[in-house]
Amino acid sequence: MGDRGGAGGSRRRRTGSRPSIQGGSRPAAAEEEVRDVGAGGDAPVRDTDKDGDVDVGSGHWDLRCHRLQDSLFSSDSGFSNYRGILNWCVVMLILSNARLFLENLIKYGILVDPIQVVSLFLKDPYSWPALCLVIVANIFAVAAFQVEKRLAVGALTEQAGLLLHGVNLATILCFPAAVAFLLESITPVGSVLALMVYTILFLKLFSYRDVNLWCRERRAGAKAKAALAGKKANGGAAQRTVSYPDNLTYRDLYYFLFAPTLCYELNFPRSPRIRKRFLLRRGLAGQGGRLFLTQLQVGLIQQWMVPAIQNSMKPFKPSGWGRVGAGGAVPNHLIWLIFFYWLFHSCLNAVAELMQFGDREFYRDWWNSESITYFWQNWNIPVHKWCLRHFYKPMLRRGSSKWAARTGVFLASAFFHEYLVSIPLRMFRLWAFTGMMAQIPLAWIVGRFFRGNYGNAAVWLSLIIGQPVAVLMYVHDYYVLNREAPTAGT
Ligand SMILES: CC(C)(COP(=O)(O)OP(=O)(O)OC[C@H]1O[C@@H](n2cnc3c(N)ncnc32)[C@H](O)[C@@H]1OP(=O)(O)O)[C@@H](O)C(=O)NCCC(=O)NCCS
Repeated sequence: MGDRGGAGGSRRRRTGSRPSIQGGSRPAAAEEEVRDVGAGGDAPVRDTDKDGDVDVGSGHWDLRCHRLQDSLFSSDSGFSNYRGILNWCVVMLILSNARLFLENLIKYGILVDPIQVVSLFLKDPYSWPALCLVIVANIFAVAAFQVEKRLAVGALTEQAGLLLHGVNLATILCFPAAVAFLLESITPVGSVLALMVYTILFLKLFSYRDVNLWCRERRAGAKAKAALAGKKANGGAAQRTVSYPDNLTYRDLYYFLFAPTLCYELNFPRSPRIRKRFLLRRGLAGQGGRLFLTQLQVGLIQQWMVPAIQNSMKPFKPSGWGRVGAGGAVPNHLIWLIFFYWLFHSCLNAVAELMQFGDREFYRDWWNSESITYFWQNWNIPVHKWCLRHFYKPMLRRGSSKWAARTGVFLASAFFHEYLVSIPLRMFRLWAFTGMMAQIPLAWIVGRFFRGNYGNAAVWLSLIIGQPVAVLMYVHDYYVLNREAPTAGT
């Protein structure tokens, strides 16, 4: 498993600088011989030639088998290849979880039920409210497009455009929230999915409006420059790129709406073609993989998390919360990791390949985060890019301090997290909001007191313990409200 060429693999060392402990009778040259330091210390070692044959001709025996050196775990040793230990951690993790898994199976039997999953999405097979909501979302996209079309030709003033976009964007958030809150036939899972689609649409149309506005400002600036120079601005050499307002087509808008990004651009980097082999390999096989991962997540919830939560279904008791945390943190974390791989690597790459979308940086190495700040900069690149481009940098340009801009971004993010949880559950507890806002002081504490590996461990701990606590609080409260209320009256 290990790297044989690493520091641990080098077995022949020169012992030149070491002072002689044999007395002064041997010639100094003999002290400088090359010896096999790994040969052990229980017998004198004879020199071998290049082929490994013992050099019996010289009749010389090496009486030394030690030299000045540090133990491998000492930081002075310079040794860095700990792959074997990493593999050991993985094996131990699997073994300890296998034990938990077996205990769970013996105690509860098999709880995984793929058919039951359907009921999470639908209450009535003839009523698909979440899907209807998603289809209706097209109206808002078309409305934004029509406003942009009119702004491009000057049929609307910028103020009127701003007002119309504002109303459209506000409706995108309020309309599905009202439907999800009031419509009895919609399930919480269906509601979350519909609200996610609307939230993505909101962020995309916000970006669409911003970029088209920047294009108009640039066009106005270019016209003014050309007028000053006394010559007509020309399209220039045949450009293969699209320029404003030629981008205002339904094809362009819908490409953006389906592309795996939240930030609009007139000319997205495109891969030259759809690689059919890649799609066959990654797409079809990947489709199976994605289905498997989806089922795995659902299975983990049904088999592992639901019993852990059911076990602590008592009115608020510290011991109950402790049990939820201890029993639910590990499966919750595993589900979150699988979700990350499933969404950010598998699904987004498949969509990007189909759409020939060239920028595949959907995540960076967040697992190496030594600070909370680094984690938020690297785990969800589409959202981070949007936050930087349409919120953080514009605030900085308007003169806000970095602290105010960062707090503003986290406030917005906290709002959307709460929006996506509270409305589907019809329960306002503000755990998600608080969890997101807590990232600001947490980032300060981790940055102030932890460095390097300790910082990395602190980030992992906050993910393994902090995030599940918020999730499990909602699940716990939802369960208590919806399962215990009817029985309490009887
Ligand atoms: C708030 C947030 C945007 C801050 O990002 P950050 O990378 O820590 O911010 P920084 O201060 O390092 O600056 C970032 C950028 O702003 C630029 N910048 C800094 N000061 C600037 C100024 N005065 N004017 C213009 N740009 C400026 C930097 O050059 C840098 O640009 P680059 O990205 O092109 O290199 C980030 O933490 C974030 O995305 N948080 C929310 C994440 C979230 O909620 N995700 C939800 C996932 S479910």
